[in-house]
Order: sequence, then structure tokens, then C-alpha cells
Amino acid sequence: TSNYQNILTEKRGRVAIITLNRPKALNALSDGLIGEINIAMKQFQDDKDIGSIIITGSEKAFAAGADIKEMEKKTFADAYNGDMLAQWHDLTTIRKPIIAAVNGYALGGGCELAMMCDIIIAGDKAVFGQPEIKLGTIPGCGGTQRLIRAIGKSKAMELILTGNNLNAVDAERAGLVSRVVPAEELINEALKTADKIASYSQVTVSMCKETVNSAYELNLREGIKFERRIFHSTFATHDQKEGMNAFVEKRSPSWLNK
Ligand code: CAA
Repeated sequence: TSNYQNILTEKRGRVAIITLNRPKALNALSDGLIGEINIAMKQFQDDKDIGSIIITGSEKAFAAGADIKEMEKKTFADAYNGDMLAQWHDLTTIRKPIIAAVNGYALGGGCELAMMCDIIIAGDKAVFGQPEIKLGTIPGCGGTQRLIRAIGKSKAMELILTGNNLNAVDAERAGLVSRVVPAEELINEALKTADKIASYSQVTVSMCKETVNSAYELNLREGIKFERRIFHSTFATHDQKEGMNAFVEKRSPSWLNK
């Protein structure tokens, strides 16, 4: 795990932490950095001891976007033939919950990376935005799609067309982030949430994440049906029996993750 050039990883009990670590480039998301995130995420997905994952940056920057120096000279053919940015979406195949703990800049691809996670918790100095318009391009990693779902069309359109930033308080008010905490408390607060999630049955947690995420893709009728089917399938698990029996017997459940 220590062969990474662009990230740091650690385990704190049942929680894995991935820290973006290209300080000189404000954690600009180069191909190498995204590749390492994917390797680390896959490793934690496969690690039975890990129940949830935090991804974070530095106090100054979560990530200042895709790496402009890496993209600047690319031709259309380079972008198209290499299916540029496609590998970013590997993150959305991770089935354990991912919390983005965001301090400082989360711009362009940095905002998009945070939005690919399941929960965004912001430090009070966090800044969100999609400034691609200023570079003569557009968001390329879900910004035009996920921001509109998070904060609605008018706010999303204004941010994307002006390139203006959203501060942490406004991001919370708009529904982009779940909560704002003092910058120096960010990791502790994210850890508390991650640890609570990791204390539940992993199989139930993954079913829950998958079902909530299906609301992005499905219409209401299909989504409700999918939810009910997954709800039914929890009755095939040991942990549903254990959870309900523990409640009835007034004791704490002990999950087997199956
Ligand atoms: N790519 C590459 N390098 C970047 C970078 C990026 N996105 N953001 C910052 N850096 C580099 C700077 O070039 C600078 O490097 P040098 O010291 O070698 O010059 C270093 O990080 C520090 O940056 P600044 O000196 O600019 O720091 P600042 O505090 O003055 O400003 C900032 C901070 C406002 C975030 C500014 O760096 C900035 O505007 N960055 C670009 C933000 C941006 O446009 N992001 C969108 C990228 S496009 C995209 O993400 C496409 C997509 O949808 C996937």
C-alpha cells in the first residue's frame, strides 16, 4: 500500500482513509492520481475488515480539478481514443459507502469527485465550483448531471455558466453537502460518521447504498419496486434475523455480514 505516489492510505479500525497527496498541484487529479484512487478503493472494497471509506485532501484543497497541465495539449483524437476521464467512473462501482471530507477547493473534477461519493461533509473553508467554462471547456465527469440533481437546475446552471464558487454554508443550504463542520474537526467528524456506518452489517449497508443510488437512475414506480425487492431480500440474511431478534431480546446485535 505504500507504493503510491499521489495518495496516502490508512486504516483506522473499520474505516479506511484515502488522502489525496499532490500538495504542489493542489491535488489536481492527474491520470496517475485517479488510477491510484481506483487501486486503493478496490483494495478496501475487497478488505473484509473495512466497512466504509473516507476520501479527503488537504486543508487548502480537496482537489482543484482535473490536471490542466496534463490536458492542455490533448487533441480531440487523444481525448476520444483514450476515452479521457472514463476511468474516474470506477469509483461509482465501489459498493461500500464513501464519504468525501472536503476542506478547501473542490473545483471542477474535484467537485465531481466529491459528488461521486455517497456523503459530502464540508469543512467551513470548503469551496465548491465548476469553473471549466473559464478554460473553454465544460464539466466532463458528471458535473452537469450530478450537480443538477443535488441542487436543482437554476443553481446548477448558474454555477456552471458563470464559473462562480459556492462556499460551504451555501453548499449546505443548497443540499450539496450533508453538513458543515469547523475545518479542524473535519476528519474527526467524518470518522465518527464512517465508523457508525461501519458498525452495521456490511451486507445491509451495501444493499442500502445500492437502493438509494438507484433513485438516480429509475423512475419512482421502478425505484419503489426495486426498493421493495431489496427489502424482501434482506429477509434472506442472517443479519436481519439477528437485528430483529436482538431488538426483541433487548440486547446489541452481533453482525456476521451475511
Ligand atoms: N491542474 C493542474 N495544476 C493545478 C490545478 C489544476 N486543476 N490547479 C492548481 N494547479 C497548480 C497551479 O498550476 C500551481 O502550480 P505552479 O506552482 O507550478 O504554478 C499550483 O497548483 C498552485 O496553484 P495556484 O498558484 O493557482 O494557487 P492559488 O491559491 O493562487 O489558486 C485555485 C488556487 C483558485 C484553486 C487555482 O489554482 C485554480 O483556479 N485552479 C484551477 C481550477 C480549475 O479550473 N479546475 C477545473 C479543471 S478542468 C476539470 O476539472 C475538467 C473536468 O470536468 C474533469
